[in-house]
Amino acid sequence: MENNLKTEFEELLKKASDNAINTDFIQVLVERFPRKVTFSTSFSYEDQIVTHLIKNLDVDIFTLDTGRLFEQTYETWTASRAFFKKEIKAYYPDTEEIREFVSQNGPDSFYQSVEQRKACCTIRKVHPLKKALQGYKVWITGLRSEHSTNRQNMPQLEWDEDHQIIKFHPLLHWTTKQVLEYVQAYHLPYNYLHKKGFVSIGCEPCTRAIKEGEDFRAGRWWWEDANKKECGLHIHK
Ligand code: ADX
Ligand code: SF4
Repeated sequence: MENNLKTEFEELLKKASDNAINTDFIQVLVERFPRKVTFSTSFSYEDQIVTHLIKNLDVDIFTLDTGRLFEQTYETWTASRAFFKKEIKAYYPDTEEIREFVSQNGPDSFYQSVEQRKACCTIRKVHPLKKALQGYKVWITGLRSEHSTNRQNMPQLEWDEDHQIIKFHPLLHWTTKQVLEYVQAYHLPYNYLHKKGFVSIGCEPCTRAIKEGEDFRAGRWWWEDANKKECGLHIHK
């Protein structure tokens, strides 16, 4: 079956390659796909910047509440509602799915094996993400290439085959310095864990602070091999 959205993406990419794709490209996407653009936030520094950029644009915002987030992340969520005054849709794991999984494996089985960890991420993040993206044509993220080696060669505008959606990463090439300066300049609310050595912040039992010089992703699922550290939200084949 012909995939119209994928064709549209290819045309967009062809035209866009003539101009440098930068942060302003959000505007192009909004005009091209009215009511069909959504942004996922985990309330990181990067996500707060994107929220600020799209505040007055026709872009929806959602977050995936895994049920295992840090208290500081919930505080940032509350502060963000007050600051940005824009609806943030919350998505949750399916009650039956999580009930069955936790009943069989216990609440912290992710430490036992990569399989258990991936199963937990699938139920708490990947399945809710599918629901959150339903009906949309463009998915904006706060991904940055500095955050992980497999994000280094990622295109800023891409086709997500798994979710059949156009994906855009406005801050992909921003440096840490640029990010910090922006957050300060606009007094954006931020997750206080960022000030305590947390770079990439996910679920509380699966995230720790990193030491000076450590890889940015070192604090995520630190007990696993580095090459297994993806939760299934962003898959690159
Ligand atoms: S992850 O794949 O390791 O979990 P990471 O924490 O680097 O992702 O965040 C990258 C981007 O994924 C964020 O900028 C955000 O767009 C999205 N994201 C990650 N976690 C969530 C979440 N819980 N809810 C919504 N979006 C999220
Ligand atoms: Fe479960 Fe940890 Fe994945 Fe969160 S990061 S969904 S707690 S395995």
